[in-house]
Amino acid sequence: MDFKTIKIQLGESMAWVNLDRPEVRNALDPLMIHELTEAFAWLGSRDDLRVIILKGNGKSFCAGADLAYMKAMAGYSHEENVADAERLSKLFQTIYFCDKAVITVVHGACIGGANGIIAASDIVIAESKTKFAFSEVRLGITPATISPFVVRRIGHTAAKELMLTGRRFDAEEAQQFRLVNAVVDESQLIDTERQYIDHFMQASPYAVAECKRLLRLVDGSDNPMNPLYHQTSVIIANQRVSAAGQEGMRKFFEKK
Ligand code: COA
Repeated sequence: MDFKTIKIQLGESMAWVNLDRPEVRNALDPLMIHELTEAFAWLGSRDDLRVIILKGNGKSFCAGADLAYMKAMAGYSHEENVADAERLSKLFQTIYFCDKAVITVVHGACIGGANGIIAASDIVIAESKTKFAFSEVRLGITPATISPFVVRRIGHTAAKELMLTGRRFDAEEAQQFRLVNAVVDESQLIDTERQYIDHFMQASPYAVAECKRLLRLVDGSDNPMNPLYHQTSVIIANQRVSAAGQEGMRKFFEKK
């Protein structure tokens, strides 16, 4: 497959997916959202793979949704805007419902929508200097499409503190909030990734897929038709064209 915004490397039983728009800190634009969704659907359907490892090229893992395109949604119809937001939700769903073990490795910054990606992943390894934020409220919007995945992962108490304040937090705190599984220095990243891969290689791939399904069943999240995915898409679609959202995003680029 020919991708422009991501790079894929296939190894024996595993695949590495790298976000590849380093000049904008791998911000998620429509093409990247589309390609990443396609990639996870494709890799998830391959019988020869057991583990997918997701990373970001350049200085940061991911700066969340591309604010230039979010702001531009004001020029689209409500229907197009909602359909677009649903594609972002679909990305998180595709990762969350993937049958393979998904390990995401973050570094630099992991902001906004990037936290939807990690919350949908199975294992998250953070480089110790990584900065995190659910910055949406500071931009006049809310972390809508990511919220079903993030709240499920970290719970209401942590979500309230982090999402309502929009404050930055470091990797250590991210681990305390259970957003990430492991925090390691840069020199330990590859070894830690390898250790998790080894664990998965010792498990039956069939049982891993079934266990993922079991865990979703137990916490009531095994329904891909959950209306929350549509409702949260409508919420962000409305907010990003609202006066507060447009103003917040304009200010981000003004500060630059
Ligand atoms: N959307 C679009 N462009 C973005 C972006 C985003 N989410 N995040 C960063 N960029 C762009 C910047 O505008 C800048 O472009 P320029 O080189 O043309 O000026 C470039 O990426 C580099 O950003 P910069 O802020 O200089 O990089 P940094 O390494 O100092 O900081 C971040 C990285 C991620 C901490 C910082 O860019 C940031 O806070 N971004 C906003 C993230 C955000 O709030 N996302 C939530 C979306 S809902």
